[in-house]
Amino acid sequence: MGSLYRLAFPEELRMTRIFENTALLEEFRGRSPEGQTPPEISRVYGGETLFPGPYGDRPYTYCSLVCSLDGRIAFEDDPVSPLLARNNRLDPEGGILNFWSLMMQRTHADACLTAARTLAAEPEATLHICDDKLIRQRMDHLGKELEHPLNIVVTRSAREVPLDHKIFHSLEEGLHVLLVTSQAGRRRLEERDGRRFRFIEIASRDDEHRIPELRQAYMFPEDNACPVLVVGTLDENIDTGLFLWILRRAGIGRLFVEAPQYMYHLIEESLLDEFFVDFSLLFAGGGIIAGMGHAFGSKDHPHSELISVAVHRQNFLYTRHRMVYDATTSP
Ligand SMILES: NC(=O)c1ccc[n+]([C@@H]2O[C@H](COP(=O)([O-])OP(=O)(O)OC[C@H]3O[C@@H](n4cnc5c(N)ncnc54)[C@H](OP(=O)(O)O)[C@@H]3O)[C@@H](O)[C@H]2O)c1
Repeated sequence: MGSLYRLAFPEELRMTRIFENTALLEEFRGRSPEGQTPPEISRVYGGETLFPGPYGDRPYTYCSLVCSLDGRIAFEDDPVSPLLARNNRLDPEGGILNFWSLMMQRTHADACLTAARTLAAEPEATLHICDDKLIRQRMDHLGKELEHPLNIVVTRSAREVPLDHKIFHSLEEGLHVLLVTSQAGRRRLEERDGRRFRFIEIASRDDEHRIPELRQAYMFPEDNACPVLVVGTLDENIDTGLFLWILRRAGIGRLFVEAPQYMYHLIEESLLDEFFVDFSLLFAGGGIIAGMGHAFGSKDHPHSELISVAVHRQNFLYTRHRMVYDATTSP
């Protein structure tokens, strides 16, 4: 198995920054352990692209979506999300830049998170970095431990996990994976084939002594056993605060979330710090949207503020936002 997709991005690739929130980027500089943007990244992304460091009890969290102009996150007839950018026939280079932007976000992450349903829809979806230049920036300028971020797959039920997916079989190419589930999820995985998994159960913060065992399981998996973190004591649910605390204790400083439903789950819990949206200026129509089933109230809803905006020709808009959960009306 294996064969992760590789690509060397063209040297001349570059977006044009048209807005930046200089005060916020200055604040990020003060909170960023690196203090400066890796040079290859500022060249292509059009300027400063700093990320703050972690909090005491959880990683810094951010997510990203590619969207059609009409707010869809995939075409209905082929729900592989990168097609929204790749099939923008007016600007193929802008589509490549969207893919670069996704790789840049992974480059900053210690771990990337996806969910079972996205894996089922996208058989090729592994959360790796396809370009060697970005891997070098990650290792040399951001001081990361692994060439690719740890790939985390979340599922409360473990009903839909496609265990034959490439994501679970690419260790020899440097892709480390961790499945995260609930007590009920553990039982279902055991029923499927218990020998394929190594379960590490962390019921509460009192189990901190088990963190080295968890790290060992995903850094050096034995006998091809897939490491599974069982979080908390709830039967069909996962205690998200405990889960993020475990990641922080395991050394994950930045978590990049790539599963649409889970992004909204984190927003509901006020646990998402940033949202990137790349708009491919075409129309997809249909019913695949993010946030289905997570309606916020007209009087009580999260806001966002722009950090930066860039364009490619007149066909793509690349936006970066910080989440604001306690917005009050300006005087
Ligand atoms: N445009 C983009 O940038 C983009 C990016 C990624 C994906 N997509 C597309 O989005 C579609 C899938 O999106 P989606 O929102 O339906 O699926 P999703 O984000 O994959 O979310 C559903 C999955 O998340 C798990 N989950 C939900 N809440 C959870 C929680 N609190 N804790 C742990 N696990 C949780 C669910 O498993 P359980 O029910 O078992 O918990 C389920 O497997 C696909 O078509 C994909 O191609 C688009």
